[in-house]
Order: sequence, then structure tokens, then C-alpha cells
Amino acid sequence: MRTPFVAGNWKMNPPSVAEAEALASALVAEIDGIDGVTCVVCPPFVALPAVAGALTGSAIGVGAQNAHPETKGAFTGEVPLGMLTGLCGYVIVGHSERRQLFGETDAFITAKVGAVLATGLTPILCVGETLDERDSHRAEAVVRRQVSAALAVVDAGQAGSVVIAYEPVWAIGTGRAATPDIAQEMCAFVRSEAAASLGSNAADAVPVLYGGSVNPGNVDSLAAQPDIDGALVGGASLVAPDFAAIVRAFSST
Ligand code: 13P
Repeated sequence: MRTPFVAGNWKMNPPSVAEAEALASALVAEIDGIDGVTCVVCPPFVALPAVAGALTGSAIGVGAQNAHPETKGAFTGEVPLGMLTGLCGYVIVGHSERRQLFGETDAFITAKVGAVLATGLTPILCVGETLDERDSHRAEAVVRRQVSAALAVVDAGQAGSVVIAYEPVWAIGTGRAATPDIAQEMCAFVRSEAAASLGSNAADAVPVLYGGSVNPGNVDSLAAQPDIDGALVGGASLVAPDFAAIVRAFSST
């Protein structure tokens, strides 16, 4: 059985390190006593040390939102994985905002997945189609391409160290989550594509999350779906009681 997994992607929030530290401390109090869920928060890079400090001794893990696949070099503005080891256990890779706003390609994302695993960290690989791709019946083809490209560098033995989040672009930040049926269907599809790359035993070990406007009001119907193992949460992860409510919903599944 897979352990439910809930991660908060804070994106470029909150606006200061002091507020990030305060949010982390608030989460410790809210999430205390919720068992059976792997819980992770992903603040902006500069806030990682303060947030990791505030979470020391708690059950909440820390992740980065990005990393560069090279170990060092002339890559202005980028952060190497060697600066993240010891500070966090997870790295979000291939978020749709990175794909769309910063032009990240499948090949670049694949290189990141390989580098994150080689560093001993766990990639949280994001995949998902745009509204145009869904409307033109290309959702599965897009997600197949994204999953198979990224998993090409993953061995079946590493499957327990990979998390995949299905995040339809049209549901992110819109307040309109995918219906539980669509989310279930696509998360099941992600797992079947993972099985095509890694074999079905290995794919069964991979947590598949849903992301896109998850909130305390819609999480129960999403968490009830058999192929949704958790959530990748944006806006609601910035409100400690809301994030705790989402984590709690998965603790009872
Ligand atoms: P929202 O929960 O704000 O829609 O963001 C989802 C997301 O992009 C998480 O990575």
C-alpha cells in the first residue's frame, strides 16, 4: 500500500522569509497528531533554511520548487542540487509554471529528474495538459509524453523515490478543480503510463497526486478516489488550517 502524500507548493509566497518561517511554525501546530500521511512543504529557495529550522523535530518534510541539473557552472540565477542536499528531501520538477512561463522542455525536465535522483533526493514530477489540449482530446497524449520522457531515466528500483503529480493546467489557481471523475481517470492513466516505463510492480509504489485548486471543501471527494494518493496544493497550502484539513482528509483514506 502507498502512504498518502500531501505537498504544499508555496510558489513565490509568502512575500518574506519571516512570514515563511511563521507559516511553517503554524503548520507544525496544525498538523501535529495527524498520522499516516507524508507531508511536505516547498518554500522559495531563500526561505528553505528558515523553514527547515522551524520544522525541525516535526513530521513535516521540506522540498525545493526547482533545481538545475548541472552540479555547477555558468547558469546565472540557478541553484545546484548540492546546495539542497541536507536542507530538503524533495524537489518539484516540471511544474506547469516552469514549463509555460520559463520554457522548460521535456528534455530539460528529464535531466532534472535524473540529477535529483542521483543526488539522493525525491523528485515530485508534475505533468498535466492545458485547456486547449483537453478540449482537442489530447490530454492523454500530452501526459503520456511527459511521463514517459521523465521516467526514461528512472530504474524500476528507484520507483519508491519518485512522486508524480497530475496537475491539469486549467485547474491550477482557478478555484475550479478537476471533477473527482476526471482526476481519478487521469491519475489512473498516469499510473498506467508509469507501469509502461517501470513495470507494474514498480509503478504501484509511486504515489500519484492530484493538484489544481484543491481546498478543504473539495478534498474529501478527491481523496476518496482509488488512484489519487495525495495532493499537490498551491493557494490552500498558504493557510495553515486549510492545509491541515487537506492532510487530514488523506490520513483517513
Ligand atoms: P492551486 O492549488 O493554487 O491551484 O495550485 C496548484 C499547484 O500548482 C500546485 O503545484
